[in-house]
Amino acid sequence: MSFYQILLFLHSWLRWAVLLTAIWVIVRSFRGWQMGLHFKKSDNATQVAFVGMMHLQLLLGLLLYFVFSPFGLDAFAQGTKVVMKTAVLRYWAVEHIAVMLIAVVLAQIGRTKSKRARAEKQKFKHAFTFFLISFLLMLTRIPWHESARLFRSF
Ligand code: HEM
Repeated sequence: MSFYQILLFLHSWLRWAVLLTAIWVIVRSFRGWQMGLHFKKSDNATQVAFVGMMHLQLLLGLLLYFVFSPFGLDAFAQGTKVVMKTAVLRYWAVEHIAVMLIAVVLAQIGRTKSKRARAEKQKFKHAFTFFLISFLLMLTRIPWHESARLFRSF
């Protein structure tokens, strides 16, 4: 078993934790915003968990992209034209990283805006808006059609 396989395994399974926590925090934020609830410690903790996992996913992704994966930066050794013309290479070497980076940045912006907001309603609203967009972006660049990548095993 190589380090590449271990990283891919972790990155693959962490996806489920990220997505489930995202749904959880989005629903909580929506309810809090619409029902005018009190912003509790548990709301803060759920946000920290979501954004923390996004950062961890980013770190694993960066390691894959720049060091271990043949579909990351390595792919450009074949030439940019080849990467852009080959769907699978373009997907991993360009689209996945670009969209996921935006998703991580939006999650962080949502967290910062929510933390800084004074009014509780605003805390929920910022979290809901940014986390929802981040979540939807992530959904668009997860390879759902590749069954071997869905529940990866060694
Ligand atoms: C933040 C949310 C992210 C999610 C939910 C996510 C999800 C995934 C999933 C599901 C896979 C397929 C894993 C498998 O083959 O079983 C994957 C692969 C990969 N991801 Fe991400 N990813 C994220 C962020 C990133 C980022 C930010 C980068 C780059 C900096 C990145 C780089 C890669 C690379 C290089 C692969 C592997 C391609 C391969 O060698 O097969 N990911 N990602």
